[in-house]
Amino acid sequence: MKFKHLKITYQQHSALVLIDRPKKLNALHRETLSEISQALEELIQEHRVRVILISGAGDKAFVAGADIAEFSDFNAAQGEELSKSGHEMVFDAIANCPKPIIAAINGYALGGGLELAMAAHIRIASDQAMMGLPEVSLGLIPGYGGTQRLPKLIGKGRALEMICTAGMIDAQKAAAWGLVNRVVPHATLVEVCLNLAAKIAQNSSSAIALAIDAVNASDTPEGFAVEIENFGRCFDTQDFTEGTQAFLHKKKPKFN
Ligand code: CAA
Repeated sequence: MKFKHLKITYQQHSALVLIDRPKKLNALHRETLSEISQALEELIQEHRVRVILISGAGDKAFVAGADIAEFSDFNAAQGEELSKSGHEMVFDAIANCPKPIIAAINGYALGGGLELAMAAHIRIASDQAMMGLPEVSLGLIPGYGGTQRLPKLIGKGRALEMICTAGMIDAQKAAAWGLVNRVVPHATLVEVCLNLAAKIAQNSSSAIALAIDAVNASDTPEGFAVEIENFGRCFDTQDFTEGTQAFLHKKKPKFN
């Protein structure tokens, strides 16, 4: 895998995807979005990768949003298409990825950058991270899932406060509001995320994929039905045999 705007490194069962346009604070232009989409497809196929980490290159930003220079002359139809293709190609693909995705928020996560982090399954923030949805200061609204995912994470009132003020909140407030799982010292961010990934990687990847699918279905009226179906599907997997037999024989399971 060779990318122009991403750096991918591997450690044990994790892949760290670094969005790498630091001079533009890792702003998401079309090429970057397309590479993220392609990288995800490839990482899903790579057997050794059980957990995916996403972070930003440089010492300032996770991702400072969609690339404003790229859409500044768009009309309504082009704007709608930008949002739709972004949702389908990247943000939904992240949310629905069968492998857990951890956003390691290392700095500014603004607009499309915070939306990228919110599409991930788990968010860990550096104590230097700043988060916000500043779109209304540009005459826009969040277009990569912010109006939908933010209220689910922090409640409608706080989400509308963030969206309508276009202001930023620091990592501590983000944790208190439930926007990120925890805040860690900046220098330890990647290490903490890799340790979390290693803990996840010990478990059954087929069960984790079915759990992600069921949790995502909690946003729909079919949530309980999906849980029942996916629970049943686990019983036909090798991991179920391995996990239960290992327990009954007082051993540690070895999942494929
Ligand atoms: N798009 C394009 N370029 C961006 C960018 C963005 N979202 N964010 C930063 N940059 C560029 C700057 O233009 C600048 O480039 P040049 O050096 O070539 O001028 C470079 O990155 C460094 O940025 P600053 O000089 O502004 O850095 P700073 O430290 O003074 O400020 C900041 C940092 C507060 C994050 C500021 O860059 C900023 O406000 N960025 C824009 C944030 C934003 O509005 N994001 C939302 C985008 S819209 C969106 O995401 C829509 C959607 O939902 C789909």
